[in-house]
Amino acid sequence: MMADVLHLRRGGTSVILDLTTAPIPSVVHWGADLGAIDLSALRSLAIGAAPQRVSGGLDATPRLTVLPTAASGWLFTPAVEGHRAGEGVSALFAIAEVTATEHTASLFLTDAEGGLEARVELVLGGAGVLHQRVQLRNTGPTPYTVDRLQATFPLPWDATEILDTTGRHLRERAPQRRSLALGTHLRESRRGRPGADATVLLAAGRPGFGFERGQVHGIHVAWSGNHRVLAERTINGDAFFAGGELYAPGEIVLAPGEEIATPWVLGSWGDGLSELSHRFHDEWRARPQHPPRPRPITLNTWEAVYFDHDLARLTALADAAAEVGVERFVLDDGWFLGRRDDTAGLGDWLVDPVVWPEGLHPLVAHVRRLGMEFGLWVEPEMVNPDSELARTHPDWILRGRAELPPSARQQQVLNLAHPDAYRYIADRLHALLEEYPIAYLKWDHNRDLVDAASGPGGAARVHATTLALYRLLDELKAAHPGLEIESCASGGARVDLGILDRTDRIWTSDSLDPLERLPNQRYTGLVVPPEMMGAHLTTPHLHTSGRTVDLELSAAVALIGHFGIEWDVSATDLVTRERIAAWVDYAKDLRPVVATGRTIHADGTDPGVDVRGIVSAEGDRAMFSIVQTATDAAYPPGRVRFPGLTDDRLYRVRLSPLTSTHDAGQSALAWTEHDTVLTGRQLGIVGLRPMVQQPQRAIVVDVVAAD
Ligand code: DGJ
Repeated sequence: MMADVLHLRRGGTSVILDLTTAPIPSVVHWGADLGAIDLSALRSLAIGAAPQRVSGGLDATPRLTVLPTAASGWLFTPAVEGHRAGEGVSALFAIAEVTATEHTASLFLTDAEGGLEARVELVLGGAGVLHQRVQLRNTGPTPYTVDRLQATFPLPWDATEILDTTGRHLRERAPQRRSLALGTHLRESRRGRPGADATVLLAAGRPGFGFERGQVHGIHVAWSGNHRVLAERTINGDAFFAGGELYAPGEIVLAPGEEIATPWVLGSWGDGLSELSHRFHDEWRARPQHPPRPRPITLNTWEAVYFDHDLARLTALADAAAEVGVERFVLDDGWFLGRRDDTAGLGDWLVDPVVWPEGLHPLVAHVRRLGMEFGLWVEPEMVNPDSELARTHPDWILRGRAELPPSARQQQVLNLAHPDAYRYIADRLHALLEEYPIAYLKWDHNRDLVDAASGPGGAARVHATTLALYRLLDELKAAHPGLEIESCASGGARVDLGILDRTDRIWTSDSLDPLERLPNQRYTGLVVPPEMMGAHLTTPHLHTSGRTVDLELSAAVALIGHFGIEWDVSATDLVTRERIAAWVDYAKDLRPVVATGRTIHADGTDPGVDVRGIVSAEGDRAMFSIVQTATDAAYPPGRVRFPGLTDDRLYRVRLSPLTSTHDAGQSALAWTEHDTVLTGRQLGIVGLRPMVQQPQRAIVVDVVAAD
């Protein structure tokens, strides 16, 4: 017989489900592992969560169940809303069946009168991430329009501070904080992709939570189309997160017998944001399709040559790339029919014979002779009105009315859900992958979707095109084993675990400015493991911010990522090239640690100082970067801590041999001239003096176990 309370435990997380609450089960705890609990204590915990009846309310105070609906008395944001042409708005589920293992529960719910069935799946992953998905089936005799379907995660009542991210092109995932007062904090994405302003994580915790400590929970919707996440605090004493896809009016109409599922919504928690993010990273790394081999050092040609596709120039760039140790050479935008700038060509995925009379063969052969892999940029979901494709198939362009939607970067969006459009694009990509030994596609997506509809009446198509995109990525991966794909979208406007489940890395931002990249990578890394975030050495004169930065700063910031270069290294002098090669060697040596280790951020440093590190999974090796982002009031600055090491292990701490130690008017830094050996606990609690640095300078510190 099934118990009346379930306790799922895994990866340091407990989830307790009370199966007896009315009308359907409730999660009464999601968070820290509570250890082995006997049934009687589980029941006590469940009973302890039952609310009182209060004056002026319903006779039974409504419960936050796994699928709260208005008809059950839930007077706050519901998890399901829909109707049958204006009728059948009432959804009231009863529990019909529960199947459970040690770390999963599947709750089958029925509403016979409403003609609906639902299944709520809860899966506690190996690292303690709670995955939830809700399926809804129309068992009634008439079509059912789904307006809302979302997964719900209960929050501790003392989680009163919210952290989420927003942003724009060149400044994605900028953090913002506010308090979670009574009411709803809602973040919606209506851009047909998550968008530069989307929150990669909606987090709520005890006030003042940081990276190192403070209990915090967070959710992420693993979906690349429109979506919604919210945090809500109710007047009845419940707090919760909810998340799911955001449907346009009439976008999801279930015929009798049809069903729809939310994307997986992933929830993590931690004592501090670092622990929360490590759960995401560990879980993601455990997937069978996680990129297995050391991340190849990548040179992307975009900022080196832009649209100037000239074989001699690119060949020279490849030579210089190979010389500094690059392993993958990626030809960016500009190689296909009519693509001399960004006004034309998208959709015509044939090599332009004007610029490439012998095809890409001479360049590809040269790159391969130099021992590098070849990668190619594509933007398959887009079309320029000035293209053969748009002229031949204007009906393949998404539009809600006769006129085309407002244009962005002179381009429109293809209706990939149209079977012929899908086949055309898929066939072109297969043909390229068959003709050339392409190891890697940089898959771009350079505009928000506006009025993304199709058909004579203009039916919404974001859901359908998102599924078509997933189908296409899966088809290409299956047909071309070993092919790696990067997800890029005007920089980092499509960063979600839906696309990252099918691709191998994301481009986190078009800003290569290391100072702008620091927050971008820190907050992208809340969910995305570092080895899946493209991070490149930049040209010293930044194209996006106008700053001038030195190589050391650029390298220090790119090290905790998938390391690469976005710079015309063929135009550098010999000394610079040697320094680049030295950093590439350093990155190659560090990459096993980046791929499996834990990213650490130190709290509480001066606002002008950024201290972060990567600590190996075994705890025997770490690299910390100390970046002076602005001048410090203190001169010389106060000590910085190196958290995240193993408490009782001894570590030898040294400046990296590539760090320059000289600046006018300063003496040497005492500890760098000694054999500095300290325990992880001493380094994490007491720390060391950093060097005096001018703003926009960085030092790299090597920490290696000495026991
Ligand atoms: C936007 C990307 O983010 C850039 O890296 C580059 O690939 C351009 N598109 C090319 O058009």
